[in-house]
Amino acid sequence: MRSAEAIRQAAEIIRQGGIVAFPTETVYGLGADAYNPLAVARIFEAKRRPYFDPLIVHIAYPAHLGKLVKEIPSKAKKLTEKLWPGPLTVVLLKEENIPDIVTAGLPSIAVRMPDHSMALSLIKESKCPIAAPSANPFGYLSPTTAEHVREQLGDQVDLILNGGPCTVGVESTIVSFLENKPRLLRPGGISLEEIEAILGKVEISSTRANPSAPGMLPRHYAPRTPIVLHWDEKHLDSYKNKRTGFLAFQEPAHFLKFQHIEVLSKKGDFREAAANLFSAIRRLDALDLDLILAEAVPETGLGRAIMDRLRHATSKEE
Ligand code: TXA
Ligand code: MG
Repeated sequence: MRSAEAIRQAAEIIRQGGIVAFPTETVYGLGADAYNPLAVARIFEAKRRPYFDPLIVHIAYPAHLGKLVKEIPSKAKKLTEKLWPGPLTVVLLKEENIPDIVTAGLPSIAVRMPDHSMALSLIKESKCPIAAPSANPFGYLSPTTAEHVREQLGDQVDLILNGGPCTVGVESTIVSFLENKPRLLRPGGISLEEIEAILGKVEISSTRANPSAPGMLPRHYAPRTPIVLHWDEKHLDSYKNKRTGFLAFQEPAHFLKFQHIEVLSKKGDFREAAANLFSAIRRLDALDLDLILAEAVPETGLGRAIMDRLRHATSKEE
């Protein structure tokens, strides 16, 4: 099926109250008409997502932000003007007519304009904003290919639009404008440095300290295989009798005995590493290993989002 035809069909499904998986530049989303509470409820059912975890609403024109929120503070306006379309989500006070199920009853709403032609065409042709979380079962890694969605939610969704692999590979950066100072709720595809270059200092929320509001529950990105982030080469011997995989940031400098090694970026490029992250973890997770050792990356630029996802994949409880 040509993609224009597939988009037309997908938009028809959205207008009829169905749910459609679609590509964005960050990860695949599972979308429904944001103004149709029953359709949005199907997303929660398909994902087995708890109803207290609010969704992001996707728009195709920056001007549509004004229809979803009470007011747009000047800093939010400045940031969206510079960074939309792109992997930035802003949290603002919501307009009354947004169904509660979208925002989990919060007075605020999260909105973003994705930088992906298929996503934008889908929203435009659906003629409504699209509420969409990542298209994965709750608690599992976000999908970065249509294949990932098919494997895990294939029989739950009305249609999957295939736009190839996502170029950014980690979810959007979420910034809240509910207080005087902007606050980073989730590091993501746009770096904190880029945001601070536009806005000045931004407050940072520890997502762990505030797990339920921004939906960053522990093990939100968890694969089945335990991932160990902090380990010491001196102790590698203790893993000798285990089937161990290695998630390397760059080409490992020396040869270590692993069942399988995934290199996120040979040259140590954050963008490339982020784009490969979830696929690499999925490949390791499919090998029935006893554990995965992950290499820490420097926490600057996109490294912050990569480390955030790795930490969530490793945390056992909290
Ligand atoms: O890149 C992305 O953001 C992807 C693509 C599909 O756009 N979407 C995504 O959605 O990652 P999801 O549902 O997996 O994560 C949305 C996050 C959750 O952590 C949720 O709690 C937070 O956005 N969120 C939504 N509404 C919020 C609100 N009113 N206040 C604070 N956080 C909110
Ligand atoms: Mg998600």
